[in-house]
Amino acid sequence: MVARAYTVAFEGVEAKTVEVQCAVTAGIPGFSLVGLPDKAVTEARDRVRTALTSMAIALPSKRITINLSPADMPKEGSHFDLPIALALLAALEIIPTDAVEGTCSLGELSLDGSLLPVIGALPAALSAAEADRTLLCPKASGPEAAWVDAARVIGAATLADVVRHYTGQSPLAPAEPGEVIPDSSGRDLTDVKGQERAKRALEIAAAGRHHLMMVGTPGSGKSMLAARLPGLLPPLTAQEALETSMIHSLAGLIEEGGINRARPFREPHHTASMAAIVGGGRRASPGEISLAHNGVLFMDEFPEFTRSVLETLRQPVESGEVVVARANAHVKYPCRFMLVAAANPCKCGYLPDASRACARAPACGEDYMGRISGPLMDRFDLRIEVPPVSYTDLDLPSSGESSATVAARVATARDLQTARYRDHPGMRLNADAEGEMLTEIATPDTEGRDLLTKVADRFGLSARGYHRVLRVARTIADLDGSETIHRPHVAEAVSFRLSAAKES
Ligand SMILES: Nc1ncnc2c1ncn2[C@@H]1O[C@H](COP(=O)(O)OP(=O)(O)OP(=O)(O)O)[C@@H](O)[C@H]1O
Ligand SMILES: [Mg+2]
Repeated sequence: MVARAYTVAFEGVEAKTVEVQCAVTAGIPGFSLVGLPDKAVTEARDRVRTALTSMAIALPSKRITINLSPADMPKEGSHFDLPIALALLAALEIIPTDAVEGTCSLGELSLDGSLLPVIGALPAALSAAEADRTLLCPKASGPEAAWVDAARVIGAATLADVVRHYTGQSPLAPAEPGEVIPDSSGRDLTDVKGQERAKRALEIAAAGRHHLMMVGTPGSGKSMLAARLPGLLPPLTAQEALETSMIHSLAGLIEEGGINRARPFREPHHTASMAAIVGGGRRASPGEISLAHNGVLFMDEFPEFTRSVLETLRQPVESGEVVVARANAHVKYPCRFMLVAAANPCKCGYLPDASRACARAPACGEDYMGRISGPLMDRFDLRIEVPPVSYTDLDLPSSGESSATVAARVATARDLQTARYRDHPGMRLNADAEGEMLTEIATPDTEGRDLLTKVADRFGLSARGYHRVLRVARTIADLDGSETIHRPHVAEAVSFRLSAAKES
């Protein structure tokens, strides 16, 4: 008899159904596993055998064959232990086959039969719900999986609990979703003294999801400003929270099943490898750009990142998804993030200050910023200089607007955009607008158009640069509550485009 259990294999954020078939036949006793398993999956044999022994279930002196179907899809990870154990228990008629067939399971077994948490419970729950199966997972992964509304999720602490559940001795209770984690950063915009222009740029960037580049001398407050950006962004919508959590689930970042409605803020170090930033690696996993999906990717000391990492960013920044090539497949992860970069103007950092700049100025500035290619720089909608704060400004008591005040304006501008792009799937914010839609929503009035044409001619704006100015002008008009884009909106957008760095 062939018994069947179901589980999933991950391809990007998608969880594909895998059928685990188990046949116990006469022949030379043995336990074999086929169907493109990786090392962790192959080792499941020993964990399953020992876990069953710990429950006083001896394997018969027969030939046991496990097949993971479809056989040509690579299977990675330790979560195959539980479905393999289920298929085997069903084949041995210890638990009923039909109940197992209505279940999708995942979980790692320890040698004493307890079930250890695994990554990817959330996408697995979505896949199980689509296939109309119950998801059976380790107890610790249950609260995470239970976030999928349509899913039936049960969590078990041990394999013995699973057997008691299926034999009707002690049914397991459905898992409850984890807590919503409150935002507790406690950082406020009022902590930053002066820097009004930089604060304005942060507000515009937050409102339209525009990419922002800050250039300034050491200690001028760039990292401080960036760290306050999450406080200006509205919480994730339910749909966005699910999208982002799916990626975090695959990276094993969801703690105790808690879902965070605050937008992700990722700040990878400049020594991070290509796989860490973009994704991939020996076991495919999402990189920082995908972990920042629907949130902020802050790349401090931007020119210090390796050239290959910087150049690789060009495509995902535009398309909102990244395709990672593996030995035998391509894996796609979403990565619609807001890129915030900070840099010193040169290696010593004091280029604008003649009294402190090093002997190599200004050549050192060109060398340093020259590490950022023209096409990459072109992708920043907003570029600002962050000048040093004066000591008098630092001595003043906290002033200026609080994060909550700015966040309220950002939320209003974002609501306008949500309504505008409602019928345009793939576009959510002004930064996403393109093609005819961009022309329709972001054509300025005559005076604004005149100004933009003049600037484009004078500074030789690229076509991309021209469209990016239009998008920023649309966001500035939204913050102003204006339906039409007027000349001052265009002027402000242009001013952010031309400052701080080389033009393109
Ligand atoms: N505008 C400011 N208002 C208040 N404090 C500030 C301001 N700018 C800098 N500081 C103080 O200086 C410290 C360093 O600032 P921050 O790390 O943001 O500088 P930076 O521009 O990122 O420097 P670097 O280029 O060296 O990374 C802050 O922790 C804060 O104490
Ligand atoms: Mg810094």
